[in-house]
Amino acid sequence: MDTTTIFESTAPRTFNGRTRYAEEDHDTWETLHKRQTALVWPHVCNWYKEGAKLLELPKHAVPQLLDISPRIEHTGWKLVPAEERYLSDQLWFGHFQKKEFPVTNYIRKPQDIDFTPEPDMFHDYFGHVPFMVFPFYTEFAELFGEAFRVTPPVDHQKLANVWWHTFEFGLIRENGEVKFLGAGLISSKEECLQALDTTRHLPFSFAAVYGRPRADKNIHSEYFVIESLSDVREALETYIKHRTSEQQ
Ligand SMILES: [Fe+2]
Repeated sequence: MDTTTIFESTAPRTFNGRTRYAEEDHDTWETLHKRQTALVWPHVCNWYKEGAKLLELPKHAVPQLLDISPRIEHTGWKLVPAEERYLSDQLWFGHFQKKEFPVTNYIRKPQDIDFTPEPDMFHDYFGHVPFMVFPFYTEFAELFGEAFRVTPPVDHQKLANVWWHTFEFGLIRENGEVKFLGAGLISSKEECLQALDTTRHLPFSFAAVYGRPRADKNIHSEYFVIESLSDVREALETYIKHRTSEQQ
């Protein structure tokens, strides 16, 4: 059975663009929102905190795409439904090239509340979307879309792993302190507790994360600390120029 069939058979039902959720799903959202906010607030970067205040995700009920997407549309981006539970790198960065951020419409089951390897809607909305009220974040996503476009297919996964170790599981130094940047840290209790262990921190460089394998089924054992986002931007811009010149 292919993954599309599994996704369609287990996805919540949607009517007129709004998804209907069971009470259990709303309870899971409420529990996760309350718990993760308390857990990550002292450790997350200020950028996220400001974005979360502006975005105002619902606390007691699962958010709806139709309500949340307009809150980021001043950036030129919009939220779109993810086609599959685990999007391929081609689909993921293909959306970025169209200024679309794909979000899932299902939430983890209560038994997976501490950690789920699948990116569910709590990861998507709670981990990523607060950043997306700022054009600074969507501009990074656009750079990744462009970088993926100019990368030969043989190196797609290597480039995708740069996104993975920065905006999914990266840390950033802020006023001398290491803070959470990655959505995967912000949205997972087990992953964020592990990332607080400073013996697991490695210095970020583009070369270090390009092609660095991802732990997409388990918690990571190491996390990269970015000194400044301008380092990531400059490295991406240099990479795009290099790849573009190769094609000419
Ligand atoms: Fe993510």
